[in-house]
Amino acid sequence: MARVADEKILVLDFGSQYAQLIARRVREQQVYCEIVRHSIPAERIRQLAPRGLILSGGPASVYEPGAPSCDPQIFQLGIPVLGICYGMQLACQALGGHVQSVPAREYGRAVCRVLVNDELLNGLPAETQVWMSHGDQVSQVSDDFLALAATNTCPIAAVRHRQLPVYGLQFHPEVTHTPLGVTILANFLTRACHCSGNWKLSDFAEETIVAVRERVGDARVICGLSGGVDSSVVAALLSEAIGPQLSCILVDNGLLRKGEAERVIAEFTDHFKTDLHVVRAEETFLAALAGVVNPQEKRRRIGHAFIDCFAAEAKRIHRAHFLAQGTLYPDVIESGGTTDGPAATIKLHHNVGGLPEKLEFDLIEPLRDLFKDEVRKLGLQLGLPEEIVWRHPFPGPGLAVRCLGEVSKPRLDTLRDADAIVLEEIRNAGLNRKVSQAFAVLLPVQSVGVMGDARTYEDVVAVRCIETEDFMTADWSHLPYDLLARISTRIINEVAGVNRVVYDISSKPPATIEWE
Ligand code: XMP
Repeated sequence: MARVADEKILVLDFGSQYAQLIARRVREQQVYCEIVRHSIPAERIRQLAPRGLILSGGPASVYEPGAPSCDPQIFQLGIPVLGICYGMQLACQALGGHVQSVPAREYGRAVCRVLVNDELLNGLPAETQVWMSHGDQVSQVSDDFLALAATNTCPIAAVRHRQLPVYGLQFHPEVTHTPLGVTILANFLTRACHCSGNWKLSDFAEETIVAVRERVGDARVICGLSGGVDSSVVAALLSEAIGPQLSCILVDNGLLRKGEAERVIAEFTDHFKTDLHVVRAEETFLAALAGVVNPQEKRRRIGHAFIDCFAAEAKRIHRAHFLAQGTLYPDVIESGGTTDGPAATIKLHHNVGGLPEKLEFDLIEPLRDLFKDEVRKLGLQLGLPEEIVWRHPFPGPGLAVRCLGEVSKPRLDTLRDADAIVLEEIRNAGLNRKVSQAFAVLLPVQSVGVMGDARTYEDVVAVRCIETEDFMTADWSHLPYDLLARISTRIINEVAGVNRVVYDISSKPPATIEWE
């Protein structure tokens, strides 16, 4: 279902933690952008016909043996190239510059003095703040290059080749700590690559809808709904594309948040009017979990029960040929699943949907070109409510991995009530977007308390609120004390059987976001 965007930028990935961020920044300028492996041959680039290339940063040193490199012919294609940090060092080295290790490795903010306001630095003031993160820098360039900017410790902070359309930045324009980085990237896209910025999500939606219709014909498509953003947007998009040929399946496993199943059902029957199959499977899941305390075993059993329930329901849906999934672009890149993309990174993936290939459906993945922020925008365009579009991630195994120790209906109900209070208070405080995930955890310990004149011995609830960009690392949210006090008081007063609330102040790593 790959569409051909007429203006495309390729980011060559040299192992930078920022490669995806660069691609997002380019797309924010309405220019379509993909990430490819650093070793992509020049001939392949010529076939793909991008308007420009961006060489990402990377952790290596260009003069180390085995350092990731690029095909030197890419500089001769006539396609504008912007090298960032490692990418700049590589470009300069390939074209006659000299790179050396700097004694004081430079990390953090620096003041950048603009020497030449040419097309790349057009519109920048004489001095601007930039974000440096490097151990090497380009120390000398041949006369073929022109230095465009400098910092106190870095004489060549930005550079341009005099004959070839090759540019370099020693600092990172993609991060917010370089406030005018967006202007520099926009300059590269418009002034060097001559992109008009005509890539729009609405066009994407329209093209995808047409492509889905063509591919599906008169067959039926099944879409699993979890209540999460991705599956909701997929379902909304397909509903728009093929309407009555879409069947959605919601497995209510009894491990969802308070009111969650009802909200999803209302949205996809009242609003989108899809053929929604709700599998009421609470008892099946609770039976599968009885007596299990090991987190991995919980996950395994829930995974199996889910597949069984889903497959049984899918069998009842006639002429179902396709299965729609909410795979996103970062999943595609990180699993090494694109022809020209970088190799798979070693990352333990949570199996989000958990559906096996043996279901023998053809897959439809209409979001596989999009980043999460684009999926959210698309969701709003398709008419999904803010509440679904800005919903926090929720693990597939649901509350089972937040109900530490044995999972039972009464314990889940206690957790659900406490969790609903946490969410409500976070929303009322206007912090739902600032906080990336907020939830309650029911601990498998009891503690002594006093209520009135009586001693109590009741459950402990932990509250977990974190902030993160990518969920790989996270910090605990520094919530205001009065908010924490309200959450604690409400949980203890309103949730029977809880006499103590604690706040989790661990960051990831070394802790994980979930407790199990
Ligand atoms: P951790 O706990 O590993 O979580 O720091 C990172 C992100 O992944 C979510 N998560 C899961 N998602 N199935 C899922 O679909 C799972 O088993 C699972 N475990 C954790 C977690 O909520 C966080 O957003």
